[in-house]
Amino acid sequence: MQSSTSTVQSSSPYFDEARSAEVVNARMSNDANPRLRQVMSVLVKHLHAAIKEIEPTHEEWFAAVRFLTETGQMCTDWRQEYILLSDILGVSMLVDAINHRRPSGATPNTILGPFYVANAPEYPNGANICLDGKGEPMVVEGRVTDIKGKPIPNAKLEVWQTNDDGFYDVQQKGIQPDSNLRGVFTSDAEGRYWFKSVKPRHYPIPSDGPVGKLLSAMGRHPNRAAHLHFIVTAPGFDPVITHIFTPDCPYLPEDAVFGVKRELIADFNQIDDDEAAKRVGFSSPFWLVSWDFTLATSSKPVRAIP
Ligand code: BEZ
Ligand code: FE
Repeated sequence: MQSSTSTVQSSSPYFDEARSAEVVNARMSNDANPRLRQVMSVLVKHLHAAIKEIEPTHEEWFAAVRFLTETGQMCTDWRQEYILLSDILGVSMLVDAINHRRPSGATPNTILGPFYVANAPEYPNGANICLDGKGEPMVVEGRVTDIKGKPIPNAKLEVWQTNDDGFYDVQQKGIQPDSNLRGVFTSDAEGRYWFKSVKPRHYPIPSDGPVGKLLSAMGRHPNRAAHLHFIVTAPGFDPVITHIFTPDCPYLPEDAVFGVKRELIADFNQIDDDEAAKRVGFSSPFWLVSWDFTLATSSKPVRAIP
């Protein structure tokens, strides 16, 4: 008798607090796309568990819904507030890590960020991408190789960074020169690349929307550790979307979007030598950054849940 009652209860289609996630998931059709079934059942399970742990009041739940509504309303073609939310919660970096498990020694991936622009100007090695003349001069040079150290010629290196005021060109159209601090370089026959720029500075992610308010309510700042962005591509190799970080930035351990990986912190050497400066067309001092990119051959993401 006891067991038949519990059988009836455990398959009941009616809502009850204890079995809430089970009841909701049981409603899903067996004909639904299997991946969607998996995703939705995991989400429902964890969402219900979170709600049971939090026990929100109605006011708190409405505040959460209002936050999501405002986040959506903030989105435009240029401003993706939901991606920003995913960034500050560490979800963007987690999805990136899951999808770019590389062999040790390969340059790690990071998030792309919202300020990448395709088809930036292509430059010969040695060109200066800083078009507004602000900031501390810097030379970046290195090699693109495979995991065994073999040079990769003709690799494309797309680079972009903020100007010395902490803004990307696309955030300041009409204020900065178009394509300021972005460009595309090609590695030479020995896999070498080199270009001129300015030392990057830390800057805040856009924080005038609901995500900025959430950060501040959580007692967090919006700053990103000073960095350059790169996409490095070569036929037959996994494209690498990555950053390099300055070693002296106070925000390295508290980057707003968790983008810093220890392996991506570069040495920035200050060169105070007039002859060396003259050779690169600067006056001294200038910063020299030697940075190699190591590409892995194409890999497939590994699924933790079958
Ligand atoms: C960036 O580095 O450009 C960036 C990344 C995530 C959010 C906002 C900006
Ligand atoms: Fe950035």
